Amino acid sequence: MKMRSGTKLRLRLPPCFAKDRRFSRPFSQNIYCSGMQLLGFATTYFITKREGLEMINVIMHGCSGRMGHIISDLIEKDESIQIVAGVDPSGQGKYTYPVFEDISVCDVAADVIIDFSNASAVEKLLDYCVEKQMPLVLCTTGLSAELTEKVAQAAEKVAVLKSANMSLGINLLLKLLKEASQVLAGAGFDIEIVEKHHNQKLDAPSGTAIALADSMNEEFDGAYEYVFDRSQRRAKRDAKEMGISAVRGGTIVGEHDVIFAGADEVITFSHTAYSRAVFGKGAIEAAKFLAGKEAGMYNMSHVING
Ligand SMILES: NC(=O)c1ccc[n+]([C@@H]2O[C@H](COP(=O)([O-])OP(=O)(O)OC[C@H]3O[C@@H](n4cnc5c(N)ncnc54)[C@H](O)[C@@H]3O)[C@@H](O)[C@H]2O)c1
Repeated sequence: MKMRSGTKLRLRLPPCFAKDRRFSRPFSQNIYCSGMQLLGFATTYFITKREGLEMINVIMHGCSGRMGHIISDLIEKDESIQIVAGVDPSGQGKYTYPVFEDISVCDVAADVIIDFSNASAVEKLLDYCVEKQMPLVLCTTGLSAELTEKVAQAAEKVAVLKSANMSLGINLLLKLLKEASQVLAGAGFDIEIVEKHHNQKLDAPSGTAIALADSMNEEFDGAYEYVFDRSQRRAKRDAKEMGISAVRGGTIVGEHDVIFAGADEVITFSHTAYSRAVFGKGAIEAAKFLAGKEAGMYNMSHVING
């Protein structure tokens, strides 16, 4: 910053204003302002800092995939968060941020990583986050039990938010099902889950279907057995079974039905995602929440409850 003429001052805005909607020009540009304006900027700067509104820098892991593109598009329109690097072995996409082939060679500093990649990529990602002390929003599904355990171990050293479904609606459903299952299963209703997804999905049943089942099963101390396939046996279903069925086809974004089937009545809780943007929006909110958080395992209920 240097004096130019009279009361005019010339300053270069700090990086936290880079995409601040209150400053319409990019921070690298010189702007001219009066002393009063400078006072205004300084006040805004300190309020911004105090309210924790600084720009959040993100590494997008799996940036060239479907969810990577959706998140890149959403973040471009968001003034409080930016992608500083992407990681994807399929290479540079259409965005301006640098893309690395593998997380181990990514040397860009960031506040948080958003991951929508592949289960095979998660172990290396966890090591990176622990080493760099970088919080992780882990959205990839289809993790093995062994990998899930490694996620828990990593969360002892760095903040990890893991959710099989980032949508607000599903996370509310997880809560509602706890109460519903206590009443209905207690009254003898059988519980079945049917999920439907597009024909490109690799894992089945969906991580969300398992999360819905787990949220109810926790209420019964894990007494329910999950049944994924009834084709190999001839036996009536047990009362403590939870059937989980997967349908794959076309471009279905994601549908989950939780069916409580009782004597002479059926209650179904249904959730339909019409666009993947619901997951992207949730992941971005989760990243804003997780940046700067201390080590621990977080989920979307922490984001919803603030
Ligand atoms: N939690 C949720 O709400 C939610 C929502 C949608 C999808 N998902 C999950 O997110 C994952 C990705 O979904 P998608 O639809 O974007 O899949 P996608 O196949 O379109 O994209 C995955 C991307 O990850 C990249 N990738 C593979 N290995 C990698 C590595 N080692 N490092 C970095 N990137 C790597 C691929 O090249 C690809 O571009 C899946 O597991 C999916 O089930 C979760």
